[in-house]
Amino acid sequence: MLSLVIAESALELVPREIQKHNSVRASAKRLGKRPSEILLDVSWHFAAMKGIKNEIKRGRPDLIHFCLLEACSIPIYLENKLEVFVHTIDDKVIFLDKSVRLPKSYHRFAGLIEKLYSEGRIEGDGKNLLEIKKMGFGDLIKKINPKQVIGLSSEGISSSYQQLAEKIDKDACIVVGGFAKGEFSESVTKNFDKMISVDRNPLEAHIIISRILYELEKRIIT
Ligand SMILES: C[S@@+](CC[C@H](N)C(=O)[O-])C[C@H]1O[C@@H](n2cnc3c(N)ncnc32)[C@H](O)[C@@H]1O
Repeated sequence: MLSLVIAESALELVPREIQKHNSVRASAKRLGKRPSEILLDVSWHFAAMKGIKNEIKRGRPDLIHFCLLEACSIPIYLENKLEVFVHTIDDKVIFLDKSVRLPKSYHRFAGLIEKLYSEGRIEGDGKNLLEIKKMGFGDLIKKINPKQVIGLSSEGISSSYQQLAEKIDKDACIVVGGFAKGEFSESVTKNFDKMISVDRNPLEAHIIISRILYELEKRIIT
């Protein structure tokens, strides 16, 4: 089956080293949670994040919300022809059950992901709707075991969405970065068979996801 990995996603809990910062304590208090229980979000924690490792690739959980809404509400996903995984910047993987319906409201999405981090799974209808596990990108690729791994990046070899969709194997894995700025790490790119650019401009991840999946959908669902 075709799979999509949103890789090195800017989705994580506030790291220990900045949990005592005023901006973190204030946002935790507003949410009625402990600093260790809330998502790192640059729009609230900008001052606290200054100088942390990999700063530009972190603290954008809203991007992952957009990407998941895009990927998990389209025919190719609803017809069980696509699996979606979220690999995070701190090497965790979120597994989504086909029947999961993600909240459209960002506020509710953030609450759900914070609950997932604290409990390890979100159950419903007797199954795990969401599950989070410690896992690196390479191990996730081994688990998916795709025929091809195609990384999408504005630094890749140029192609149109259509040309790419025509060449992709039906059991390929497409990898899109879940971050706003910066590039994939070497630990991720070393797993790619190809790295492709589908537009002359760097675009937001959810736009790339919607366009490439639409092209694949036209080919795969007929
Ligand atoms: C906002 S971009 C990250 C910035 C990165 N400098 C870049 O341009 O790829 C988020 C993700 O969208 C995808 N992306 C953005 N523009 C792209 C393009 N022109 N071609 C292919 N993928 C692209 C990549 O997977 C990228 O990691």
